[in-house]
Amino acid sequence: MREVVLKVPGDFAEWRAAARGLLAGGVAPEDVSWRGSAEGASLFGDEVAAAPAGRLSLPRELVEIADRVICHRDAEVPARLYRIMWRALHDRNLLARTTDAEIDWLRKADKAIRRDVHKMHAFVRFRRLGEEAGRESFAAWFEPSHRILRLTAPFFQRRFYGMDWAIVTPEARAIWQDETLTYGPGGTKDEVPDSDVVEDQWRTYYGAIFNPARVKVAAMRAEMPKKYWKNLPEAQDIAPLLAGAEARVERMRAEAVSMANPLTGKWRTRVQDELTRGDEIATLAELAKAVDRCTRCPLYCDATQGVAGEGPEAARIMLVGEQPGDQEDLQGRPFVGPAGQVLNEALEEAGLERTQLFLTNAVKHFKFEPRGKRRLHQNPTNAEIDICRWWLDKERAFVQPELIVTLGASALRGATGKSASIKSMRGAVHELEGGTKLIATIHPSFLLRLPDRARAAEERAIFVADLARARRLAA
Ligand code: URA
Repeated sequence: MREVVLKVPGDFAEWRAAARGLLAGGVAPEDVSWRGSAEGASLFGDEVAAAPAGRLSLPRELVEIADRVICHRDAEVPARLYRIMWRALHDRNLLARTTDAEIDWLRKADKAIRRDVHKMHAFVRFRRLGEEAGRESFAAWFEPSHRILRLTAPFFQRRFYGMDWAIVTPEARAIWQDETLTYGPGGTKDEVPDSDVVEDQWRTYYGAIFNPARVKVAAMRAEMPKKYWKNLPEAQDIAPLLAGAEARVERMRAEAVSMANPLTGKWRTRVQDELTRGDEIATLAELAKAVDRCTRCPLYCDATQGVAGEGPEAARIMLVGEQPGDQEDLQGRPFVGPAGQVLNEALEEAGLERTQLFLTNAVKHFKFEPRGKRRLHQNPTNAEIDICRWWLDKERAFVQPELIVTLGASALRGATGKSASIKSMRGAVHELEGGTKLIATIHPSFLLRLPDRARAAEERAIFVADLARARRLAA
């Protein structure tokens, strides 16, 4: 019997070196005993030689799955994986045998790991430690179900490249410092501060996206399992939010906005000769008045007012949304409703000051469909966006921003005149005619619509990273 003692549980490189040696030596699974070093003894005996590179040919997918599944806490995992590898050497189609009990186990274990990784991406919460030489440092405490730190650290490296951070777990820690990722021993929760400003932002965000009318407690628990709650600042608010959900739904019903503003009747009588001529507009204030008188397309008929952009004329960054929503239509200002709240928090987190930005929309009137007492948002058509570009171009001419950030697909069309998916444009810096830079990201209301909390948190982190990139680009 060969005995293999693994020094670092969950370390794929160590397990793979041992497995390759055994496979190359033709050692059958029943002749190997796998143990963790905590159970005593030192590294495995020298009878097991490392296999010369390239001698074993195993399905790539299987090796990738093994790389994840080795992180599973089940003590039998190294032996089970070895048995599967052994069989795969002689059966190239092993992975496709879905009724095979070992393959079934492998797929389930892989699913558990991927789920754990997903949860860790979503539920790690950093606390600020301080700042040194202009670089902020953060720490987070997290208790994953499996030994997945190695699988998740690269995600945080990409997301939080510009700051120093450590993620401490009971068994290991990942440290990103001076743009180098290293691993160290595990730690305890008291190494990480209990709360800070970032935490308050999470709680505000969670409170803002919590929709009492949509709450499904079972689904919510499935997405944000209770075991994570103790380390999630926003989870402290779950019970009170749930307790008040019914009352909030009632309040929402009572306060539902009436369908069309009575004033809108008078706009219907507008005639074409009211069309504003561009050369009459000499200032942003005049432009705002002219937007309110716009009759270029029929959307003015039902909206309360035209909503022009707002912000300093000298703003370096222009943020373009889709169109005013219900609240914006009533208040006459962009991004003052729920999407605006999400945007405000993301801007703050990205280090951007809203008052320094010029915020506007691709379409200046609210397009909606009356439903009972409510006004339901409707996407503007390409034609409506294209007609309204006249205003966006005017705003651009006044502000001359260095960078435009488009929020969502309508904004992207408004700024570029072309339809393109956000996915295809995101992540790169584009240049518009005249040299203005453009980056494309999602619309904040997309985050409000995601029912999966973990996914929403992930998407939000990417959104904040896009905004932070905008800040750096315009700096
Ligand atoms: N959504 C937008 O696109 N713009 C706003 O101003 C508000 C919500």
